[in-house]
Amino acid sequence: MKKYDIKDSMIGHANDSLMSFMYKMNENTNGIVFVQNDRGIFQGVLTDGDIKRALMQGYTLNERAEKFVKPIAVLATEDETEMSIQGKFADNIRVIPIIDKEKKLLGYYKQEGKTPIADPQLNGNELNYLLDAFVSTWISSSGYYINKFEQDFSSYCGSSYGVAVSNGTVSLHLALVALGIKTGDEVIVPDLTFAATINAVLYTGATPIIVDIEESSWCIDPNRIKEAITPKTKAIIPVHLYGQPCDMDSIMKIANEYNLYVIEDCAEAHGAMFNGKRVGSFGDIGCFSFFGNKVITTGEGGMCVTNSEELSNSMRKLRDHGMSKERRYYHDVVGYNYRMTNLQAAIGVGQIERIDDILSWREVLEEKYRKILKNETNVILQRKDIAARKKVAWLVSILVQPEKRDEMILQMKQIGIDSRPFFVPLSKMDIYKAYAPKECTVSNRISKRGINLPTNYRVTEEVIEKIAVILSMKERE
Ligand SMILES: Cc1ncc(COP(=O)(O)O)c(C=O)c1O
Repeated sequence: MKKYDIKDSMIGHANDSLMSFMYKMNENTNGIVFVQNDRGIFQGVLTDGDIKRALMQGYTLNERAEKFVKPIAVLATEDETEMSIQGKFADNIRVIPIIDKEKKLLGYYKQEGKTPIADPQLNGNELNYLLDAFVSTWISSSGYYINKFEQDFSSYCGSSYGVAVSNGTVSLHLALVALGIKTGDEVIVPDLTFAATINAVLYTGATPIIVDIEESSWCIDPNRIKEAITPKTKAIIPVHLYGQPCDMDSIMKIANEYNLYVIEDCAEAHGAMFNGKRVGSFGDIGCFSFFGNKVITTGEGGMCVTNSEELSNSMRKLRDHGMSKERRYYHDVVGYNYRMTNLQAAIGVGQIERIDDILSWREVLEEKYRKILKNETNVILQRKDIAARKKVAWLVSILVQPEKRDEMILQMKQIGIDSRPFFVPLSKMDIYKAYAPKECTVSNRISKRGINLPTNYRVTEEVIEKIAVILSMKERE
């Protein structure tokens, strides 16, 4: 439980519309607004659940809040003990207003809930744009926000074209198909990545070739790429893992020397840079995911960025069933429905507007982790000092002793802190192991030691201290 001062976004008036309460909840992220009268006397509360129920009863967001306000029974007074207040929290009561003798609001207590691994931050213009798209009735895959999101995101990446799609996995598949990758071709992928990277290759009928990672960055090792090249190799998919950019200099040199395509998997590294240039803009196509746990999100969603007009046109066509641009319902290539909706893109436009802020609070949070964990000699934080690379804080990532790792994750879970073990190396899974010509010793070692820690704006120093206690106890045992 923590005590907070009252802020404007926590107070409303019964004459205000439900819409205005919704905006306040979006800003305060507590799902509740206190209602007071003209004299500043507390009258009750309105919650996100109350708004939902009003809409389900057929009321619109223009309705005055008055008839939905609940005079609340659970209150705290200035002189009440913490123990007494703590006893008032319940599953459905997470925020308790503090009032004085005249029933004026002084502040509130909030029960700190579970700490999720990620939590999208949607309190910029996301709701405005989403409502705008909704009201416009352009809720499918055409509309103002699609074009705007494609333009804004691709130019943020330093690329000329953006093709928005329904998720990150299909962005990889679309890129591979647009580059003509097919059965008989080989595509080099890193051992340590999310399964979507290799699955996209398998969808095309091509053969993925799994190679090991670098010890320092945990990203694909250019030396291992070189060893794996055969006459059938057509492309490389470097994955900028856990926010860390790959060695794009070496990778692009190899690609140029052997005439290979490069598809960057940037799902986890929006905004990361190599030599001052953003990831996604080095290879032929950069692929992004906007899943809810990513740096910026559209719920589900993805995008391919490229500097090639030809590839952009080809991906646009393949995304839309392969339909000819000149003749409606005439299909000269087998395409897909991989489109993003205008609603998703509206959220994306709100997110990309704030990406610099989002990245900087992530960086600040990572620094807090670094500071609090710096004395844990057995805990190694992901490197941020590799020459030429500017990583982003997607999920704060650490290495611990392998035999203690799972117990640490369990202990964090027991106190409501969510974390993740690193990905299982592709070469260690039955369905993929045949695609690894060589043992991947580095990725194997790193994978067993890695934990992704909660990285979202709700993570307080108190939470990090609790994590530090678990990590240090386990390390000393
Ligand atoms: C490295 C990597 N590639 C691809 C994807 C696939 O993205 P999506 O979940 O949007 O399909 C992810 C998503 O989690 C990922 O982490």
